[in-house]
Amino acid sequence: MKSLYSALQLKRLLTLKELGVEYIDSIEEFKEPELTLPDNLDMLKKVMDSCHMCQLSKSRTNIVFGEGSLNSKIMFVGEAPNSNEDNVGKVFMGRSGELLTKMIENVLHIPKESVYITNIIKCLPLNKKAPTSSEILSCKPYLQKQIDIIKPKIIVALGATAYSYLTNDNTPIERIRGNILNFNTTRIITTYHPNYLLRNPSAKKETFADMLKIKDFLETI
Ligand code: URA
Repeated sequence: MKSLYSALQLKRLLTLKELGVEYIDSIEEFKEPELTLPDNLDMLKKVMDSCHMCQLSKSRTNIVFGEGSLNSKIMFVGEAPNSNEDNVGKVFMGRSGELLTKMIENVLHIPKESVYITNIIKCLPLNKKAPTSSEILSCKPYLQKQIDIIKPKIIVALGATAYSYLTNDNTPIERIRGNILNFNTTRIITTYHPNYLLRNPSAKKETFADMLKIKDFLETI
């Protein structure tokens, strides 16, 4: 599990930096330990509940793991929880959650409970700032494991941050939005984040078109 190992190495380097170490010759002494994450969502959540891979673990109230159906063909990936969600441990509460539910139930015509929804970052970012790349990297193995367990036929990246984090591709959202792309053994489509739509309601028509495309795709598999 290379990415978990990389995240651990990064954590060790950051700890050394916090301790005042400015230079080390090599990190070869960090032998790759046996690192595996469980192939079961409940057990994965337990592992994550005691995660201290990045500094967000010090300030979080709850891990916001994600929720929905284990058998879902579709997985929505947002960015990070807000403070209400951190308090409760649930994804997409509030107005953005209501809008996401409408996108799922009124356009895809499937109950929200039958999809899977999670975020790239499972802990509340500090001071409402965008998560740092080391925080994102620390969390990546967990999202990857959720994808491996659920095996969605399509992932919906909610916004450019989720897309670029998942794919390591920084193509502007205007160029990739609404396109169903191959992504490892599954597909990915990016649409606007519900928070963006709340600030820019005129973009809802594009998201509506994206959701219709997803509906067509789900009907053909
Ligand atoms: N709440 C979430 O869970 N994710 C987001 O991206 C925004 C709000």
